[in-house]
Amino acid sequence: MKGIVKTIIFQFAVFSVIACTPIEKQVQVKHDSAPENKVAPISVADEMTYANVNDVRVKHVDLTLTTDFKSKKLSGTAELQLVWLRESTTTIKLDTRDLTISDVRYWHKNAWLPGQFSLQDADPVKGAALVIELPVAADKVMVEYATSPKASGLQWLDKEQTAGKQHPFMYSQSQAIHARSWIPIQDTPAVRVTYSAKITTPSPLTAVMSATSNGKVGTAFEFSMPQPIPAYLIAIAVGELEYQAMSRQTGIWAEPSVLASAVAEFDDTQAMIDATEKLYGPYRWQQYDLLILPPAFPFGGMENPRLSFITPTVIAGDKSLVNLIAHELAHSWSGNLVTNATWNDLWLNEGFTSYVENRIMEEVFGEQRAVMEQWLSVAGLKRDLKALPAADTRLRIELKGRDPDDAFSDVPYVKGHMFLLYLEQAFGRDKFDPFIRYYFDKYAFQSISTDQFVKELNSQLLNKYPGIVSLEMVNQWIDQPGLPESSPNPQSDAFVKVQQYQQAWLNRNLATAALKQVNWTVHEWLYFIEILPANLTMTQMRELDRQLGFTQSTNAEIQFAWFRYAISQDYVAVEPAVKTFLQSVGRKKFIVPLYQLLADSSTREYEWAKGIYAEARATYHPMAQSSIDPIFKQK
Ligand code: BES
Ligand code: ZN
Repeated sequence: MKGIVKTIIFQFAVFSVIACTPIEKQVQVKHDSAPENKVAPISVADEMTYANVNDVRVKHVDLTLTTDFKSKKLSGTAELQLVWLRESTTTIKLDTRDLTISDVRYWHKNAWLPGQFSLQDADPVKGAALVIELPVAADKVMVEYATSPKASGLQWLDKEQTAGKQHPFMYSQSQAIHARSWIPIQDTPAVRVTYSAKITTPSPLTAVMSATSNGKVGTAFEFSMPQPIPAYLIAIAVGELEYQAMSRQTGIWAEPSVLASAVAEFDDTQAMIDATEKLYGPYRWQQYDLLILPPAFPFGGMENPRLSFITPTVIAGDKSLVNLIAHELAHSWSGNLVTNATWNDLWLNEGFTSYVENRIMEEVFGEQRAVMEQWLSVAGLKRDLKALPAADTRLRIELKGRDPDDAFSDVPYVKGHMFLLYLEQAFGRDKFDPFIRYYFDKYAFQSISTDQFVKELNSQLLNKYPGIVSLEMVNQWIDQPGLPESSPNPQSDAFVKVQQYQQAWLNRNLATAALKQVNWTVHEWLYFIEILPANLTMTQMRELDRQLGFTQSTNAEIQFAWFRYAISQDYVAVEPAVKTFLQSVGRKKFIVPLYQLLADSSTREYEWAKGIYAEARATYHPMAQSSIDPIFKQK
């Protein structure tokens, strides 16, 4: 009874607030939560899509899908709301990959009528165009379809691959061009859609999406996403999932046995949001939740709006790897709000995000930690720069005819980060921070190209404050290979100390046991491993490992760094641990370089790694498989 009275009073209160609010304010609120999805002509060509985006635009997608774990298929319908941009055509081309299309209908005079469609020949990178030819410019089409068990954007996990081991698990990874393998859609980051969905799952499994959850209605989980987003941010996961709120805006979805440790690890997420809002303006997606995936997830994280997907390998127990959360959160501004128009401009998403991530880390965890993370990421970039063809070391790359997954490296991330840090240091934060904030506001909910960014940079900073940075320098950063001389050199006092200790140890002025007493952070140890010389003796390696426990570390980054070093040193004692690691983790960043390193070592190691891969392959994501397959096809 008390509850009902409270509810009535509460509703009355809400009603009176709305009734008394001046109209401009109401409009303002509405605009904030559901910005208009403007349909402007698209001038930059995206080589990765078949969609005729300047003839017709998909504005909203309504999915009705059933998850079938036995056949490993999603099946149902996608209803697409259309806006026709040219009178001369009533043909719509959609992107698909490995979809079985059973029917296409169009909405005409209040009825669904059968539409004419054909699925074109498939291209290995782009998939197959679905061409729908309509007699009229219909407002809506409905595609009835099913996915393939091999869908490149989905992974179907057996129950053994989950933490609970009781139920199977399924999730999507749509970036860069994999949304088309589970939704027939205009799969280009230049096009934004709002979406809604009804997802039927087998009991007792829960579905979550990159959207607001409207709960279970009848047999289906219902979702709605009122903000327009590109197709690569549409995401789904189904599994035995529970939710725990962490703060006003944040919470965690995870398997029951993982939930408590994830909450403890990531409870600074609200502080990260608050810090970012202060720097760059409001978080525009209301809720920010994390979904902890099983370890097969091929990435560290994926910035699916309202619900970042996160690898469990960052739950280290000491918050040492939470920069990954700062990174995925930062995408709520750089990437999800202002989006790269094509995958050639990926650095606009990832370079900006790495920069914003580091600013968040500085705000929440202090400058020392931020600088250490800069140094470590530059070390990773330098490794990549040595191995990559020059053309792939440019910020803006040319993907024509290539698979965007194959061109993936640290370059868009760390070179992009260093470019922005260079600009920040040149102009000063007093000028640079407002510029970035202006850029996020001006291009909110739009997709932009590198050229547009340079124009904006030129008019807002270069020209306003002449003599600081030249346009030539900007062009060098963007279109020339490698790192320019002007690239910042992150320096950490803490790392200088680590280096001194290591030198003393190498000179035998410091016992290994004394190293154990130093009480360093994970970052300091990562640096210690990074700078180990190539001429350590086996005795020294064994001694280090015995005292410091690198091989058995519970921190995935330390294990990864140590394994790389150990393999290059032929320190075979790591092999059982390397095998366990490769068979339990599916994160590409770790497993691809380890397989590559082993394959490039002796014939024995090549054969040994090949055997491990043969056993583990089926547990890896299709994307990881296509990165590793070629490694063992060369010899
Ligand atoms: N959006 C990326 C992941 C991605 C990039 C997927 C390109 C497909 C194509 C995500 O935000 C990311 O960068 N993850 C990193 C995080 C790290 C840099 C902190 C990862 O997975 O390691
Ligand atoms: Zn990212």
